[in-house]
Amino acid sequence: MNKTAEKILKILEEKKSPVSGEEISNILGITRSAVWKQINELKNMGYEINSSRTEGYELIEKTTKLLPYEINRYLKTDFIGRDIRYFESTPSTTWVAKDLCSNEDPKNLNGTVLVAEEQTGGVGRLGRAWFSPKGGIWTTIIIKPNVPIDRLFFVTMAGSIAVARAIRRMFDIGALIKWPNDIYIGDSKVSGILLELSAEADQIHYCLLGIGIDANVKPEDLQGGMKTPVTSISVENGEDINRAEFFATVLREFERRYEMIEEGEFESIVHEWKSLSLTLEKRVRITTPRKSFEGEAIDLDEYGALIVKKDNGMIERVISGDCTP
Ligand code: BTN
Repeated sequence: MNKTAEKILKILEEKKSPVSGEEISNILGITRSAVWKQINELKNMGYEINSSRTEGYELIEKTTKLLPYEINRYLKTDFIGRDIRYFESTPSTTWVAKDLCSNEDPKNLNGTVLVAEEQTGGVGRLGRAWFSPKGGIWTTIIIKPNVPIDRLFFVTMAGSIAVARAIRRMFDIGALIKWPNDIYIGDSKVSGILLELSAEADQIHYCLLGIGIDANVKPEDLQGGMKTPVTSISVENGEDINRAEFFATVLREFERRYEMIEEGEFESIVHEWKSLSLTLEKRVRITTPRKSFEGEAIDLDEYGALIVKKDNGMIERVISGDCTP
């Protein structure tokens, strides 16, 4: 949103009653036709504004789009999301992030958030397509974590915890985490998380934390034909959620855990993850590129690996793969 549109929006929000084009043009020192042009911009961004010849302009309803301006109303972070880049539609926020990081020093992009209303080529774990229709929250957070490479899984854990906590806190819905990093409500997946990394030797250039959340995705737009049942927060909540407020909460919850990780507080993260786990103490089938086996998920170790007791009594430490109940 450009600065003039932002200023006009602020005036309309403060007045809470119709404001004439002349008054706005006097306050901002611009022509009435410039005011009219910006009002149309705001309408295109989804703000419902009444324009009356006699009374002027009145804000009727805020936009439901995930505009940075709307997210900022609720954002209480120090650095995550202080720079938010918005896309109406993009193939994948991950690809946009990769492009950005190859053109700018990733150090200067630490905490930058990309968010899209829809993705036309979303990518999920194990190279699977990730269906990303309108109504969801499709985001990539660029970070340059100051942690040893073997602790990077904690960044995804922080992401999963953040999404589960935000759902619980705002809607009192018992979201849980399925190892490695899926968020479930009941038997259905509501969010997936994917960490991509650019590193060499033991030096991390940057990490891209991709988070997909079926926030306000309508039941008919939830992808059918997936192996896992899927749901959205709005379906579980019974009505649409305020995505901007929810997203700002996720970012805040993530930042808190991320800071703990950088402080080396791994045990607390493991503890919290376990308290939100859907996987522990359950029978699971583990599928890795090399093998597949069943057993009971008995623990999560200090690196975030799943400890599975196989049916033959052997203990297996799983660091990646698919886990199904
Ligand atoms: C999964 O397979 O469960 C992880 C899905 C991660 C999807 C997110 S949506 C935002 C970002 N852009 C993508 O193309 N993928 C990630």
